[in-house]
Amino acid sequence: MRQTISPASAVRGEVSLPGDKSISHRYAMIAAVAEGQTRIHNYSTGADCHSTLGCVRALGVAVAGAGTEFTIGGRGLDGLRAAAGDLDAGNSGSTIRMLSGILAAQPFGARIFGDESLSRRPMQRVIQPLEAMGARIRARDGRFPPLEIHGAALRPIDYVLPVASAQVKTCVLFAGLFAAGRTSVTEPARSRDHTEIALREFGAEVAAQGRKITVEGRPRLEARELFVPSDLSSAAFFLAAALLVPGSQVVIRGVGLNPTRSALLDFLTGMGAGIRIPDLETRNGELVGDIAVEYSALRGGTISGGLTAALIDEIPVLAVLGAASEEGLTVRDAAELRVKETDRIRTVIENLRRMGVAAEELPDGMVIPGRQKFRAAEFDSFGDHRIAMAFAVAALRADGPSAVSGAEAASVSFPEFWRTLGAITS
Ligand code: S3P
Repeated sequence: MRQTISPASAVRGEVSLPGDKSISHRYAMIAAVAEGQTRIHNYSTGADCHSTLGCVRALGVAVAGAGTEFTIGGRGLDGLRAAAGDLDAGNSGSTIRMLSGILAAQPFGARIFGDESLSRRPMQRVIQPLEAMGARIRARDGRFPPLEIHGAALRPIDYVLPVASAQVKTCVLFAGLFAAGRTSVTEPARSRDHTEIALREFGAEVAAQGRKITVEGRPRLEARELFVPSDLSSAAFFLAAALLVPGSQVVIRGVGLNPTRSALLDFLTGMGAGIRIPDLETRNGELVGDIAVEYSALRGGTISGGLTAALIDEIPVLAVLGAASEEGLTVRDAAELRVKETDRIRTVIENLRRMGVAAEELPDGMVIPGRQKFRAAEFDSFGDHRIAMAFAVAALRADGPSAVSGAEAASVSFPEFWRTLGAITS
């Protein structure tokens, strides 16, 4: 699908967004191995989270509901059943990596695969700890999907993560649920802690000491009624749109503001963005609040070290903002971007260049000078949802109508994106 986008004279209004993708995956997977019926409100409408529902259903779990409201009939730690066929993770790295932690503990084998993009993403990072716990895993070329997972009675481990990855942390903690004793994961930089919070909600014992997280094996997980906040990573596109187009003012309701995710707001505020969060509340252990943003001239900045891990999914749209800012944006320590849904260093720079914006590619990041003009362009999503949405936002500031081909990619996390953007731009 080719989507055209006209320059906007302002972006104004209220938006509601899909439920948080990270939290939705975790709730569905933990609910599947909990005891009883979990009700989930505001579940993500994104295709990725539906890949997770499809996989747990294939493992014998009753999933009822539609839209954003689902009930999951937990089968307990020992109740999953072998799937009749292969499990399809679609485009979703979270599904394949996190679910592998659960599959590794089953008394049956499972094969899990994904689309072309997922089939190129590294899985060694989950294979290694799961094999150390006792599972056997075969992968294409030893490191790519499909994964053939031969489960086992797992041993607990004390694992030091070589890369900061919440997906891998989650995979190991999920596997640790099935191992008698304590499993711990030490991260090199703090990553999102939705798993720790969700496991506690379901009744597991999870301790965090500095960067070391420990889960007590064989807990009794009890079904819950859960609410998923709106996705801050989806909100990022509307924050950016408002910050890019003079005269804009946007309010985003009920957004997840977990401190391990909200570095985005601090970073933007540090660049000079006018952002207000009138009230905060806690729901199911997660901070939630409305965000009000208004157009502001941005200074520019640098993303490196631990900040890179905290902003990893937002870097494509921050790159767009950087080009319009006073001093530009530098991104370092971001080699992980090369193994996302696309090589996001390449795909961001390619699209920036298409609109006449200069950018320098680094092995682990990019340098984007500020005060650049955006020319109307033919963008490509390259099949990556965040690239499609980041350049839709860029197009709002271009000097004429632009288009994004492969625009349907947005559905991976945000099927309503194009309609939502259309509703608040004029
Ligand atoms: C996610 C973790 C991040 C992020 C992804 C979602 C999660 O991936 O990029 O979109 O929900 O745990 P990594 O764990 O590979 O950094």
